[in-house]
Amino acid sequence: MAWSLQRLPALSEVQFVRWSKLLEERTGIQLAHSQRTLIESQLSIRMRELGFDDYDDYYQQVCRGVSGQLEWSVLIDRIAIKETSFFRHRPSLELVRRYLQQKINNRRVDGSFDVWSVGCSTGEECWSLAMLVNDCFELASLEPYYGITGLDISLSALAKARQAQYPERKLLSVKADEMQRYLQMTSDGRFDVVSKLRDRVCFSHANIIKPGSLPAMKVDVIFCQNVLVYFRRWLRRDILNVFAERLKPGGLLVIGTGEVTDWEHPGMRRLVRDDVQAYLRDGQE
Ligand SMILES: C[S@@+](CC[C@H](N)C(=O)[O-])C[C@H]1O[C@@H](n2cnc3c(N)ncnc32)[C@H](O)[C@@H]1O
Repeated sequence: MAWSLQRLPALSEVQFVRWSKLLEERTGIQLAHSQRTLIESQLSIRMRELGFDDYDDYYQQVCRGVSGQLEWSVLIDRIAIKETSFFRHRPSLELVRRYLQQKINNRRVDGSFDVWSVGCSTGEECWSLAMLVNDCFELASLEPYYGITGLDISLSALAKARQAQYPERKLLSVKADEMQRYLQMTSDGRFDVVSKLRDRVCFSHANIIKPGSLPAMKVDVIFCQNVLVYFRRWLRRDILNVFAERLKPGGLLVIGTGEVTDWEHPGMRRLVRDDVQAYLRDGQE
C-alpha cells in the first residue's frame, strides 16, 4: 500500500485532550467528546498532506513560531464548522429591517448605518443583511449610506465570502423578488451578488476571543448567530460584554435564540420576543 493511503493510528485520549485545549485556547471553540472522530480525520488528512505520521510531531509543528501560525490558520479552516445559508433565521433578520425602518422613519439615521456579522462564515449572512438594509434605504428613497462588515476566523471562508458567488441550491430561502434585485445568473448557472451590494460589504479576519482583533469602530447592529454556542458559558458572557461596548448608543445586538441564557448588562435591555434574542443599547438612537 502506498504510504499516503495508510491509516494513521487513532488519536489517543491524551492527544485528543491536548488538541482540544489548544483549539479552545486559541479560538474559544470547545470540542465535545463526540467530535473526536471529526478532529482525528481532519488532523490526519492534513498530516498526510504534509508528510507527518505522528500527532505529537504535528502538534509541535503547529506550536512553532511563524510557520506554526501559518499552519494553524490552515488547520482552523478545516476544523471550524462553517455551516450557513442565506436568510438562515429570517425572524432575526426581519428584526434588523424593522429596527432600521424605525430609525429612518424617526429621522435618526445620521452618518453611516454600520453592521457587523460576526462569525460570518462564507458570507451568506452578510449578503442577506445587505439585501434588507439596502431595501430600507431604497424604499425611503435615501442614498444607501451603510456598511456591513463580515468577520470570521477562517481565511478560506472569508475568501469564499469575498467571491460572492453561490450555486442555486444555496439560495432556497431567498425570495423571488430578492433574487431578481440582488443576484445575477452567470453563464455557468451560478449566481453573483450584484455590485451595489458588493460595494457596501467588506470582510475581515478577526478572532472574537481577542477583542483587539475586532475593528475599532462602533456600529449600529451586531449580528452574531451560531457562533457562541461553541464556547463556554463564561466566555459567551465576556464576548457579549465586548459587543455591548462596541455598539453605538441605541444600537442593536442580535444573537441566536437560546445561545445565551444568563447574560445581563447594565447598558443593555433585552427585547421581549419569543422568536428572536436581541438587546438594545441604552441611549439615543
Ligand atoms: C456555524 S458558522 C455560523 C455562520 C453564520 N453566522 C450563520 O449563522 O449561518 C460559525 C462561524 O464562526 C466562525 N468562528 C468560530 N470561532 C471563531 C472565533 N473565535 N472568531 C471568529 N469567528 C469564529 C467559524 O469560522 C464559522 O465560520
